[in-house]
Amino acid sequence: MDIATTPTNPDGNPELADAAPTPHRPPVIHREDYRPFPWRVPTTDLAFELGIEKTRITATLAVERNPDAEPSDRLRLNGDGITAQSVTVDGEAVNDWEMDGPDLVLPLAGDAHTVEIVTEIDPSANTQLMGLYASNGMLCTQCEAEGFRRITFFPDRPDVLSTYRVRMSGPKEQFPILLCNGNRAAEGENGDGTHWAEWHDPWPKPSYLFALVAGDLVANSGDFTTVSGRRVECNIWVRREDLARTDHALESLHRSMRWDEETFGREYDLDLYNIVAVSDFNMGAMENKGLNVFNTKYVLADKDTATDGDFDAVEGVIAHEYFHNWSGNRITCRDWFQLSLKEGFTVLRDQLFSQDMRGEAVKRIEDVRILRAAQFPEDAGPLAHPIRPDSYREISNFYTATVYNKGAEVIRMMRSMAGEERFRKGTDLYFERHDGEAATCEDFVRAIEDGAGLDLTQFRLWYSQAGTPRVRVSHEVAGDGIRITLSQQVPATPGQAKKQPMVIPLRLAVHSKANETTGTEHIAVLTEAEQVFEYPLTGPDPVISINRGFTAPVIVERELARDDLVFLAAHDDDPFARYEALQELAVDHLVAAASGETSEGGEAALVEAFRAILADGTLDDAMRGELMMLPSETYLFEAMAGSGATGTRKADPGAIHAARERLKAAIGSGCAEELDALYDRAEEVAFDDPAGRGARKVKAQVLVYAAASDPAKAAEMAARQYDRADNMTDRQGALMVLAGLEAPEREERLADFYDRYRGNDLVIDKWFTLQALSLHPQVIAQVEALAQHRDFTIRNPNRVRSLYMAFAGNPQGFHAQDGAGYRMIADLILKLDPINPQTAARFVSPLGRWRRIEPKRAALMKAELERIAEADNLSRDTYEQVSRSLD
Ligand code: ARG
Ligand code: ZN
Repeated sequence: MDIATTPTNPDGNPELADAAPTPHRPPVIHREDYRPFPWRVPTTDLAFELGIEKTRITATLAVERNPDAEPSDRLRLNGDGITAQSVTVDGEAVNDWEMDGPDLVLPLAGDAHTVEIVTEIDPSANTQLMGLYASNGMLCTQCEAEGFRRITFFPDRPDVLSTYRVRMSGPKEQFPILLCNGNRAAEGENGDGTHWAEWHDPWPKPSYLFALVAGDLVANSGDFTTVSGRRVECNIWVRREDLARTDHALESLHRSMRWDEETFGREYDLDLYNIVAVSDFNMGAMENKGLNVFNTKYVLADKDTATDGDFDAVEGVIAHEYFHNWSGNRITCRDWFQLSLKEGFTVLRDQLFSQDMRGEAVKRIEDVRILRAAQFPEDAGPLAHPIRPDSYREISNFYTATVYNKGAEVIRMMRSMAGEERFRKGTDLYFERHDGEAATCEDFVRAIEDGAGLDLTQFRLWYSQAGTPRVRVSHEVAGDGIRITLSQQVPATPGQAKKQPMVIPLRLAVHSKANETTGTEHIAVLTEAEQVFEYPLTGPDPVISINRGFTAPVIVERELARDDLVFLAAHDDDPFARYEALQELAVDHLVAAASGETSEGGEAALVEAFRAILADGTLDDAMRGELMMLPSETYLFEAMAGSGATGTRKADPGAIHAARERLKAAIGSGCAEELDALYDRAEEVAFDDPAGRGARKVKAQVLVYAAASDPAKAAEMAARQYDRADNMTDRQGALMVLAGLEAPEREERLADFYDRYRGNDLVIDKWFTLQALSLHPQVIAQVEALAQHRDFTIRNPNRVRSLYMAFAGNPQGFHAQDGAGYRMIADLILKLDPINPQTAARFVSPLGRWRRIEPKRAALMKAELERIAEADNLSRDTYEQVSRSLD
């Protein structure tokens, strides 16, 4: 149900009261309604006459009847905001076509025809950044999911595969470089200052993988020789001033290419691989065949301007888009409900790659932290959906942490149950069976079943049921064995009141606290609502270590004594389980403290556990740095909501923030000596030392604790670190802490940072972000002032996110008691929606969490959502998110 049928406003909302699909009430698309397209389009020829303000496109489509579809005498070509200048069929101009809303519908009587359509667009006016648009004087495209229809009329759906030939021409001085998918077939000059290029992509592809770039670009080039000995020219295209920051991207690409050959047996299939960096981009990057288009944020990196985390993100996104060449391009999706087929699988592939490059334990912890911060709240809120959704109004809203990250976890579970080798047999079969097809999630699951020899009948529920399962653990000792009872409960989610028990694989071990020994690892696969598993004991005082390595994306509820958690935090042989025990200790204490319950000894136990982590000589600093991070406030909201004796408690952002700051201060002062010693030791490590990254990570953490326990000392330490830094990680880490302090060092260093990096957009984004994220008591006023800064622009998504996404993720600011934070985000949504709906809609979900928040703030959040809902002409994107959030 949506807001029109249940007015949430007591007076009713007259303008939302009618039920017909209007621009206000875009229709719902259902997965069940999938039908094959009646026509095939074996070839597509496109001619572009390029100009920033006017681009003319002549599209020539060979169409023929699809024998596998219900026949039709009409050809429906999708459009979005475009009009046809002319339409010809088999060389004859026709005028019996009609517009049906945005689409062009053309009667076609025969079995095969050639359809030619001319359109004209203004890329400079394209602020949505979907289709063909202008960015920094260049032209580029973004077509996934439904952007191609903003360029020309076409069956813009992923199951229509076509072979493309593209001719581009335009002014040579303005666009010296002309790029498209596939291989360059020919090029030449027109003699009038314009030039042209022809490109041919031999691989049939859906329209969402089309790409074109025209601009003044230079490349960092480096060949890659594939396993079968083919040479591939790889280019990273950027503006001249950015060339020095592209080595890491090129090296990451080469490493990804090698890794996919070795790990999944996948070889690249063209002689050319182009990546172009663009500063105006809605998302991270796009896997267009042979011509990836990237947000500059995931290409440019050097030590002076990018943090260690930025380097990792570049490597991860380069790998992700490269891996799509097989999981996405060679095998694409039948329809957009299958999005997780390519995204979930490709995220898993990029995670496994990064684990191999940088170490499994730390990468796993990072990925789980992201899942818990972004996906768990989604699964517990009004926007919850299965990894394969059943319906949508606007597909852009389903590029979510659920489809991507939970999708990856679901496939990871298959891998855990099959083991690496059998899983590889499954993926080999998938690639072999479906190469060249537009496939479904069901096709993938069947290939893994057949290839890996698994029965995934019940496991398929992971594709259809939303919500994070909760697994309860209890045990009893029986002689020299232990009986572990596991029970599961999958919470109700929108449209899914009743759930069936899922298949939940859990790696576990039973340790002996008395003997300080660790037990052997088992894998328990929970398939029923409740089930008992029996294992031998290895000694007295058993402590269960469960969901080791985070084998299943579930919430484990166990009533472990604090001593047991302390034991696991110090001794578990699984690094993830150690991290988890510490997190659980902190969550238990902080939720109790925020709820006004006594958590006697909780703080002292955490301080001691921290001391042990700081002193543990077996840990490297990269891992120590992870263990030192307390659970995020968003994660704590999730833990607090629904807790308590009656299970009806709401999250109290103010109380959680205060409790967490208190704990940070207690750790900072309780472990002051150890933290100082750690800092001094880490400070001696040089940037390029293999231990350098870990050292920088723990230094940043030490500053965080110092800021909470001794702000004056922290200001001094951070200013010193800032002044001496020879890299962005140290500089940003120091400035982040300074930004939250009321100290003279704050303004001086912020000004210095701005002056130093003025003109470097990605670094100026950091300057906005670290202020918007800061713990400063005046953060709201500061963000309001930053929105007026000359470098702020609402037209650039990176800049918008750098200020407002950061702010929405700053609980102290966003959840300000008087609702000023909510109002600021709602104002932004209303202002941004007409300019860039896709990006505007992303800001709805923080407000949508109102149901889990205490009543005063909840009312303020809901009122802002209602205010947005009442606006005229909301985009499909924002309308859908707001109406679901109010349901
Ligand atoms: N396929 C891209 C990726 O994950 C994301 C493109 C999303 N685009 C969009 N407009 N929603 O690599
Ligand atoms: Zn992707």
